[in-house]
Amino acid sequence: MAKRDKVEFVCSECGGTTVKWQGQCPHCRAWNTLQEFKVPTGAAGRYGTDKRSGRGFVDTTGALQDLADVTAEEAPRVITGLSEFDRVMGGGLVRGGVSLIGGDPGIGKSTLLLQVMARLVAGGVRCVYVSGEESAGQIALRAQRLQLPLQGLQLMSEIELEHIEAVITEKKPEFVVIDSIQTLFSGALDSAPGSVSQVRECAARLTRIAKTTGATLFFVGHVTKDGALAGPRILEHIVDTVLYFEGDTHSNFRLVRAFKNRFGAVNELGVFAMTDHGLRGVTNPSAIFLSEYKSNIPGSTVLVTQEGTRPLLVEIQALVDETHSPAPRRLAVGVDNQRLAMLLAVLHRHAGVALFDQDVFVNAVGGVKISETAVDLAVLAAICSSWRDKPLERGLVIFGEVGLAGEIRPAPRGQERLREAAKLGFSKALIPRANAPKQPIEGLEVIAVDRLADALAQIF
Ligand code: TYD
Ligand code: MG
Repeated sequence: MAKRDKVEFVCSECGGTTVKWQGQCPHCRAWNTLQEFKVPTGAAGRYGTDKRSGRGFVDTTGALQDLADVTAEEAPRVITGLSEFDRVMGGGLVRGGVSLIGGDPGIGKSTLLLQVMARLVAGGVRCVYVSGEESAGQIALRAQRLQLPLQGLQLMSEIELEHIEAVITEKKPEFVVIDSIQTLFSGALDSAPGSVSQVRECAARLTRIAKTTGATLFFVGHVTKDGALAGPRILEHIVDTVLYFEGDTHSNFRLVRAFKNRFGAVNELGVFAMTDHGLRGVTNPSAIFLSEYKSNIPGSTVLVTQEGTRPLLVEIQALVDETHSPAPRRLAVGVDNQRLAMLLAVLHRHAGVALFDQDVFVNAVGGVKISETAVDLAVLAAICSSWRDKPLERGLVIFGEVGLAGEIRPAPRGQERLREAAKLGFSKALIPRANAPKQPIEGLEVIAVDRLADALAQIF
């Protein structure tokens, strides 16, 4: 009797495995995420480790080493010259670095990587573009339309992992793009391309090759309806850098954010404008986020946020309107919705503003997502401005976290934020007391506060 293949169940959320099917993943507690897959006999087994050689993602020796004796290598960077891209990558590409770039369909993932390759090929870097989604003809057509010089770029329309591995090992390219990881499949597994087991197997094996040959590798990844990367979370753990395209597909701007970066700052944001010739870096992004800003409208204010290593000025808008339903609506776009409810409670308890009978809407203009809590004070100022129907003073910027006790807590890198605001011509800043500058900043009047009630009294 033929030996039956061993099966195991893999969680599509966390990549954890179990031997029996269960409704709930025992590792991450997500429901209905376990999928069956056959463990190939003899071939690479558990993700990232080859059972035959026992090797992981990186070259392992197994010997104990004293950390002091290990030579620390500062990875040399390959600058692509596409400055906003170099910025999100933490200052250029790293040899052997593996990155994942995700985003909605049609947002510009393939275009951005083609542009990067055009730059690299021009600089004499050996590049290979593996496409499992588009034919060579389609890619050539796009390159022509975008007027990208791609002489010397090696193209491969292939989805079988073993072929791709053979080509990379033989040709030793320095830069490889896999577009996309969900289209690849390995003959060693019998599940369909895009399934959890295929995605993690293909990613792990290619990562190992990149680490041993020193090639810089880029995976393009699809995202699901709710914005998470399709396939297992484990993909994010394997790679060194995770970039996401975020923002509004209808706008002319594209934001690329580093969610994870072993070689640079996380949350770094690259801002691009879409043009007929592809994506063009925006050198002064604050200017575009404020381009439509009119200071005499109630419900609008300017926040100085810090995205990665760069301060950014973003307009925050709020609308407070009488509710017509028993449950008033609270809706935030670009700002955490849960936090909005909490901030409204603080506003009531510590500043005496009750909005139980009002709908409250908040929006970070320009499609940028603000993840830091330093947005709190700006959100509450915009809400109060709309509620009182009173515009805030001209030239005012705001930042600061609001605590549950109504205290205003400091934000990191306060000085840089203030300098950026002054540079863009703002004349007044409402900030946490702990962020007050020791030296005055030219042209900027600073109002430092430590209670919410005091902050609101200062601006209204
Ligand atoms: P594409 O890179 O194919 O998106 P993705 O790989 O994320 O699915 O981009 C979609 C289309 O938009 C493509 O036909 C090229 C076009 N495009 C431009 O014309 N200019 C640009 O700046 C960008 C980003 C895309
Ligand atoms: Mg594409």
